[in-house]
Amino acid sequence: MKDLADHLFDILENSVKAAATEVKIILGIKDKLFFCKIEDDGSGIKDEDVTDPFVTSRKTRKVGLGLPLLKRAAESTGGSLQIYNSEKRGVILEFKIDIAHIDAKPFGDIARTFVDAIYSWPKVSFDIFIQKKNNKKLSIFNSKKIREIVSYSEMQQKEVRDFIYDSIDRELKKIKIDSQFGMF
Ligand SMILES: Nc1ncnc2c1ncn2[C@@H]1O[C@H](COP(=O)(O)OP(=O)(O)OP(=O)(O)O)[C@@H](O)[C@H]1O
Ligand SMILES: [Mg+2]
Repeated sequence: MKDLADHLFDILENSVKAAATEVKIILGIKDKLFFCKIEDDGSGIKDEDVTDPFVTSRKTRKVGLGLPLLKRAAESTGGSLQIYNSEKRGVILEFKIDIAHIDAKPFGDIARTFVDAIYSWPKVSFDIFIQKKNNKKLSIFNSKKIREIVSYSEMQQKEVRDFIYDSIDRELKKIKIDSQFGMF
């Protein structure tokens, strides 16, 4: 995985593979670290260490690489990754990463990752928030709400797809995240 946006796609895919129907994503910057918290309502993890490469529910290959690689990428910049079961149902995953660190991976295009996820898994509701400096969460996108007002055929139009991309990109810029260049 070449950049952070690829990793983000991988963890969204993990939630989908665990049969999540709602995935809440909170993004922000705290103490100069980029952080991302994901809460899903999927099956949850067993009590084994899923950040170990040999723990995987994959059938095609015996090692899962997504989480161990993201954990290593985060830690190599002084950040961290935790994944645990929520008290309700599903998983909470949090990672922090210093994207300005010399060893950090490129940021990649985060808005593109979200658009790809929204279109790849239309039945899953992705609810995206940014966390402001005062710790308030601001909803920037909710795929369930969009689907209530935009028809399936309208969703397929390039203008609509671009509009969704631009609106996520614009909101991320408010917390000084450029979806292609990272923090500014
Ligand atoms: N959100 C989640 N809900 C439930 N289980 C999860 C979740 N995320 C990860 N897991 C479990 O952790 C394992 C490891 O995840 P990881 O992303 O590292 O590898 P993978 O998805 O199995 O393979 P890869 O990412 O290399 O395609 C998964 O196989 C799955 O069993
Ligand atoms: Mg994975």
